[in-house]
Amino acid sequence: MKTMTDLDTLVTQAREQFAQAPTPNDLENAKARFLGKAGHITELMKGMGALSVEEKKTRGAAINQAKQAIEAALAGRRQQLAQAELNAQLQAEALDVTLPGRSRGLGGLHPVALAWERIEQIFASMGFDVGDGPEIENDWFNFTALNNPPNHPARSMQDTFYVDMNDKDGHPYCLRTHTSPMQIRYATAHAKHHIARVKAAGELGENIPFPEIRVIVPGRTYRVDSDATHSPMFHQFEGLWLGENVSFKDLKVTYLNFCKAFFETDDLVMRFRPSYFPFTEPSAEIDIQFASGPLAGKWLEVSGSGQVHPTVVRNMGLDPEKVIGFAFGSGIDRLAMLRYGVNDLRLFFDGDVRFLSQFR
Ligand code: FA5
Ligand code: MG
Repeated sequence: MKTMTDLDTLVTQAREQFAQAPTPNDLENAKARFLGKAGHITELMKGMGALSVEEKKTRGAAINQAKQAIEAALAGRRQQLAQAELNAQLQAEALDVTLPGRSRGLGGLHPVALAWERIEQIFASMGFDVGDGPEIENDWFNFTALNNPPNHPARSMQDTFYVDMNDKDGHPYCLRTHTSPMQIRYATAHAKHHIARVKAAGELGENIPFPEIRVIVPGRTYRVDSDATHSPMFHQFEGLWLGENVSFKDLKVTYLNFCKAFFETDDLVMRFRPSYFPFTEPSAEIDIQFASGPLAGKWLEVSGSGQVHPTVVRNMGLDPEKVIGFAFGSGIDRLAMLRYGVNDLRLFFDGDVRFLSQFR
């Protein structure tokens, strides 16, 4: 029974050493000590040479049993170590879904963009189209076609930045000083078929009804201006309503309804103050006054306006005897200042996030 005890001890030793191997590498080293070419089991096999056939049989079977027990212990430990490694990896890659997320910091629209969007929505709800046009204009559309010829004193009302280049007709390019050139661009483009039909009909052309035009055109505008209420780059929106029977009454109702919607109050009054623009006749500044709130009691200028001048109607390709209407041009930045209670226009363009984030 002595030999059996030896083998039992060997198996026990192997189990212990395998169990104590902390890594797969250590385990393979331990394996070599028992099952390797120079390991205990191989040594025992070699030692059988001197035994009788009968003894060899029993001894060989016993050694084989011990070897199988050691191999089983090895396989078991291998699996244990592999499982431990997997667990460690899973733990290292674990994701705690209960932790608060790392957010990116929400952006928001610029207050001028907010005002711009509101203006589009309100006028769209009153049946106005929303147009868009070039910021680099030419001298013809920005001034001359608007009844403001070269050397006319009214040109000095709007000094601008010129581009050192002329268009194909020889008109110098400039940055537009207002959105008014879009009155002509839009009307000419949208009345194209009407103009062609009238022309084709000859004398009968005057019986062809004019399809109404109702549009606002918001956009960037430029002037050589700079103080708390004037910026070299600012925003305007142009309004144009042309038809056969459009009057100042329509202008007043439209603009008053716009102001009430824009400022979210019915507590305001409006007045027309006589003014001058070369492209309207008569011309008026539109002022409003709030009955309550921080601006109560003060008249505030919100827009230039007027009946579209016959020369301008003619420059659109239309007949001023038939087509009549009004236009207005308002400062989007000024409206945003009034709505949000901002007293210095330059704050809008400084890009200070502490100021801008108040409008999110
Ligand atoms: C015009 O620009 C005319 N085109 C308006 C018009 C259109 C009249 C259609 C008649 C018919 P005015 O120069 O007043 O007019 O400018 C209109 C508005 O633009 C002003 O009331 C003001 O709100 C805004 N504005 C003008 N210059 C600046 C500036 N430098 N910075 C910020 N806002 C400005
Ligand atoms: Mg003005």
